[in-house]
Amino acid sequence: MTEAERRAALEAIAAEVRACTGCRLHERRTRAVPGEGHPSTEVVFVGEGPGMNEDREGRPFVGRAGDLLVRLLGSIGWQREDVFITNVVKCRPPENRDPEPDEVAACAPFLRRQLEVLDPALIVTLGRHSMGRFMPGTTIGRAHGTFRPADPATGARAALVLAMYHPAAALRTSAVEQASFADIALVPSVLDDARARRAQLGDVVATLPAVAPAPAPLAPPTPDQPAPESPPLDQLTLFR
Ligand code: URA
Repeated sequence: MTEAERRAALEAIAAEVRACTGCRLHERRTRAVPGEGHPSTEVVFVGEGPGMNEDREGRPFVGRAGDLLVRLLGSIGWQREDVFITNVVKCRPPENRDPEPDEVAACAPFLRRQLEVLDPALIVTLGRHSMGRFMPGTTIGRAHGTFRPADPATGARAALVLAMYHPAAALRTSAVEQASFADIALVPSVLDDARARRAQLGDVVATLPAVAPAPAPLAPPTPDQPAPESPPLDQLTLFR
């Protein structure tokens, strides 16, 4: 899929999310929150569900938990625009209660389809509800800072999943905040592992064009024609 096709496919899913009446959460929402980010990113962050600020703006993680998420990303040199950020449920549970199992089930096809389109190398779960979708049968206390292959039934056909605490929990407890900074510091090396695993799974071969065009020969720079500048390294790292 090209970047434009991915962007269009994600926008089509977002339009369905905004019109969805598939569970009771639509009744009290101001705006649904489909998720946002770079359509060609290798990394997807999955939170629990929109809070009050997200419900008002229609965007994920824009409140205090979002500010902390931005700081966590900044600690590894990334910005929120470098990744894709979404949630297990796309409409705000009233009074920020936990989403009910039937609400999670009703919303699950949206997340699955987003992951099919994005085809990430790495999924980072934020909090226990998100972790529960990808690492069933464990607790957040045990799982945070650990990773495992994603079940392809989640929509992510060849990804690793890394569990983190929810940023809102980190805002409440300084030990959890410290653990969160330690956990996100693992992300670049887990992403490297995820890329290596995808290459082993044949991903690189599968996504290369059948006949790669030969690169155009580079003319040596002449004094009045300076060599083109390479893009900065950080623009090359996260996107396919
Ligand atoms: N908490 C979440 O889980 N998701 C958001 O988008 C915001 C806060």
